[in-house]
Amino acid sequence: MKHFINLKDIPSKDLRKIIVDAKKRKKQRKKLNNLDPDKGSPLKGKMLVQMFEKASSRTRISFYLAIKQLGGGTLTLRSSELHLGVGGETIADTAKILSTYGDGFMLRTDDDKKIEDFKKHLTIPIINGLSPSSHPTQVLSDIFTVEEIKKKPISKLKICWIGDSNNVLNSLIAASVKFSFKLSIGCPKKFAPGKNVKDWVSKNKKKIFIYYDLKKAALDADVIFSDKVISLNDKVNKKRKKQQFQKFKIKKEIFNYAKKNCIFLHCLPRGDEVEEDVFLGKNSHVWQQALNRVHVQKSILLYCFGKLR
Ligand code: CP
Ligand code: NVA
Repeated sequence: MKHFINLKDIPSKDLRKIIVDAKKRKKQRKKLNNLDPDKGSPLKGKMLVQMFEKASSRTRISFYLAIKQLGGGTLTLRSSELHLGVGGETIADTAKILSTYGDGFMLRTDDDKKIEDFKKHLTIPIINGLSPSSHPTQVLSDIFTVEEIKKKPISKLKICWIGDSNNVLNSLIAASVKFSFKLSIGCPKKFAPGKNVKDWVSKNKKKIFIYYDLKKAALDADVIFSDKVISLNDKVNKKRKKQQFQKFKIKKEIFNYAKKNCIFLHCLPRGDEVEEDVFLGKNSHVWQQALNRVHVQKSILLYCFGKLR
């Protein structure tokens, strides 16, 4: 049994194995319907409990399809519907119950510590389905999408992020170390990655490149990523923060600085950080990116259940 909490804590060779498996499985089920199981139904009879403390469309539906395609099933809960935290039920007690009824637990939470607390008391694997500090299932799937489109290992590409230093960027930075790719970040100075993140990168003998100018960040990029300026957990003055990001809005012109055939990716939901003609334009692969969540999460589930081929 393995947990899937942060990319930085998972060995590179395991992350690569997940991607290789996802590629094979995606290819093998081209002619199948969404709910048809993969050959051999490797997670037959297994139940994934998903719990959301915050909104989700893609993570919820893609995990539903992922476990179904592996032959198992899922139950989706909102934390407000449980006894957890109210009426004296502790995380330890809830974790015991989840481990009694379920085989795996996917949690989207407002609190990183809650994931660690659950981990301590669960006897089944836990998957981080987005926390304030990371969004590992999203980013691993994005690595898959980049390699699928570019037909090259990501280590040979230059990746650019334009936007906030949020959970998705933290996972992308961890991925840049694990998969050895060049990552340039364009953001206002006030919203640059913090010291902890930069220290972790240096400790791993890698570098990230931070620019307070989006054109410099996008120079020669093969991929431009973006995300909402205001995240689900962001308790800032929203109007002011959006103003501070005005110069970092992604417009068509930015692709003049990037490499020819540069692609645009965005995990969704979107805000006004990107113009409509980029988001729906020829460089954008956001729908393929969303679909790949299903394929990669299947291999993440197999990894957690100790069934990765
Ligand atoms: N990208 C993503 O995690 O989307 P949801 O918030 O809809 O799950
Ligand atoms: N950074 C965003 C990602 C949403 C999938 C958030 O945390 O809201």
